Amino acid sequence: MIVLAMMKAPHPIPYQGSKRLLAPAILAYFPKNSLRLLEPFAGAAGVSIAAVLKGRADRVVLNDINEPLMCLWKCIIESPEIIAAAYARLWKAQLGRQREYYDAVRSKFNETHQTHYLLYLLARCVKASVRYNSEGEFNQSPDNRRLGMNPETMQWHIFAASRLLKGRTTITVGDYRQTLNSAEPEDVVYMDPPYQGVCLNRDPRYISLLDFEVFTENLRSLKDRQISFILSYDGKTGGKSYGRPMPEDLGLTHIEIDAGRSSQATLLGRNHNTVESIYLSPALVERIGMPSKKHLTIAPKQFSLLAQDAI
Ligand SMILES: C[S@@+](CC[C@H](N)C(=O)[O-])C[C@H]1O[C@@H](n2cnc3c(N)ncnc32)[C@H](O)[C@@H]1O
Repeated sequence: MIVLAMMKAPHPIPYQGSKRLLAPAILAYFPKNSLRLLEPFAGAAGVSIAAVLKGRADRVVLNDINEPLMCLWKCIIESPEIIAAAYARLWKAQLGRQREYYDAVRSKFNETHQTHYLLYLLARCVKASVRYNSEGEFNQSPDNRRLGMNPETMQWHIFAASRLLKGRTTITVGDYRQTLNSAEPEDVVYMDPPYQGVCLNRDPRYISLLDFEVFTENLRSLKDRQISFILSYDGKTGGKSYGRPMPEDLGLTHIEIDAGRSSQATLLGRNHNTVESIYLSPALVERIGMPSKKHLTIAPKQFSLLAQDAI
């Protein structure tokens, strides 16, 4: 574990909304012992990777509704050589004809759902952002300024992620509720649902809008079952905030993490800080012995100290 803790965190899947930069601040609210971590909205699994790397989780359950994405995770963990070689082949074959090549790979992915195509598309598409049309086809455009992660760098990320997660990871595909139903009081559940304000598509296979009432009803059930959970929700950039506030009766502790200036805001010449909200369940607050407060704010300076310490 000491060797793992000194390693840089691998992130083989470029993914918009990844919590890899925020993960150190989130880990600060984990119990000290190593436990099973459930991520029902796993995406690129930024928090699970950091938790295993830092010895805070010894088993992880990664679930997402996006089936090709979870198949990609399976390949990365179980067959790292194969997926790294397939990515390198696609990346090299694109050189000099990136635009047409991207379109051809996108069509092949939509026909076959093969995982190496998805990895290439995520590495090359605008903002590493998954977008599907109403037929469930990936329709995001390429970022024509970038070639996507260099194959040697990608190989490092894939191999390192595989070493970290192999033998301790269960991958499932489906709705978040199936994962929540399997949670036990000894586990920690980390939830990063899609923001309410961001509607990506209407295809139920990749549904990105959560029904708020159904979601909070599920949180209520977790509370009643004494489950320790951390929820990322209601991100704010500048004055803009997304999502409705969490109901009072859930008894959640709200922590606002001021992560400093967002890179997008800087690019647009705006003076905005990104404030990320996390909510802790009553069972977790009690388990980590935190003085029960309803609201806490972590300033950018504290955030960068946490970030340096953890990754
Ligand atoms: C904000 S992203 C999670 C990002 C992740 N924390 C990371 O570090 O990359 C939300 C994820 O929820 C998934 N999702 C959307 N609706 C879902 C549902 N009903 N059940 C499970 N996953 C869902 C999306 O496919 C997406 O990958």
